[in-house]
Amino acid sequence: MRESKERIIVFTCNWNAYSSLEAAGVEGLSYPAGVHPVKVMCLGRLHPGLILKAFEQGADGVLLLGCPPGECHYGFGNRRAEEVFAEAKELAHLLGIADERLRLDWLAAGDGKAFAEKVTEFVGQIAG
Ligand code: FES
Repeated sequence: MRESKERIIVFTCNWNAYSSLEAAGVEGLSYPAGVHPVKVMCLGRLHPGLILKAFEQGADGVLLLGCPPGECHYGFGNRRAEEVFAEAKELAHLLGIADERLRLDWLAAGDGKAFAEKVTEFVGQIAG
């Protein structure tokens, strides 16, 4: 694992995104050590308060990773996640949290390489 002083919370849904995280582990792929995954059943489970709490607790960045459009295991969770993300983004802006510190992205199931790449790129952007 690479050294990283950034504290990054990565919310993953239990399905596509978490299976990609697991695949990254099985494949021995590395990503920055400051990444803390938090698994929820579906990204639609999140709400803006939970996302902002991560910043309040000292996260340098928050990344939401879920199933691509049309692939949410609960049908509409990723559409709900887009709404929640937009609300959280607005509130974060009002609180002076830089736009690039919060991101929403999608992952195909079991794609460890994409997981490691997306997380590493996000941390790199936060680190500047
Ligand atoms: Fe993955 Fe809903 S189960 S976003």
